[in-house]
Amino acid sequence: MDQVYANKLWGDDGSQFYSGDGSHYPEITDPYIAAVTDFLKSFEDPLVVVDLGCGDFNVGRDLVKYSKKYIAVDIVNELIDHNRENFKSNQLEFQCLDIAVDQLPSGDCAILRQVLQHLSNAEIQNIIPKLADYKYVILTEHLPDGDFLPNKDIISGQGIRLKKHSGVDVTAKPFLMKVKSKQVLCSVKPRDYDGVILTTLYFNEIKNPL
Ligand SMILES: C[S@@+](CC[C@H](N)C(=O)[O-])C[C@H]1O[C@@H](n2cnc3c(N)ncnc32)[C@H](O)[C@@H]1O
Repeated sequence: MDQVYANKLWGDDGSQFYSGDGSHYPEITDPYIAAVTDFLKSFEDPLVVVDLGCGDFNVGRDLVKYSKKYIAVDIVNELIDHNRENFKSNQLEFQCLDIAVDQLPSGDCAILRQVLQHLSNAEIQNIIPKLADYKYVILTEHLPDGDFLPNKDIISGQGIRLKKHSGVDVTAKPFLMKVKSKQVLCSVKPRDYDGVILTTLYFNEIKNPL
């Protein structure tokens, strides 16, 4: 992922780090931020949010104020240093972790926005069991339009499964993530891209509450 950022493989808006048009085009980000804001504001006691693969934080920055604590994680060390310099709030913390390998911070709600779509099935397999520790998991995935065969494997990196007419479905084989229920929070059909960007909220049965 360091190379993806260093070589501007997700585009370039002149800043040091650019997480892609999906993190910046208002037609894509605005409906997402509105839907997740509504969800976070629905709690009298605000949630501890863990943003796994926070990227350049152009999206996460708007959600911090609706959390009790917001822990933003990314694998790219320099990006995390950059974010620490640029985004400051009492309830905000940045951590550099590999979410496929490291233990994840505890919290009420995990957010993975356009992250799993870039990872191999082996890495996603490592992440799924850890998501069971969060009462709420909000996943955003760029998927093909209509029917598709989910979870065709890719090598981790810049690309996604769309080029194979596939996309990540965590509840399908081989991941079979067990959830209590799920609800679509937001669906955006980007103007300049094929497919649909779908945000789903998963509810977990928590065995060891915080
Ligand atoms: C396309 S960007 C999305 C950024 C942000 N979630 C958003 O929607 O604006 C994907 C991010 O996931 C991060 N990422 C990929 N694999 C990761 C891993 N194993 N551990 C932590 N972060 C990872 C990348 O470095 C990148 O910043």
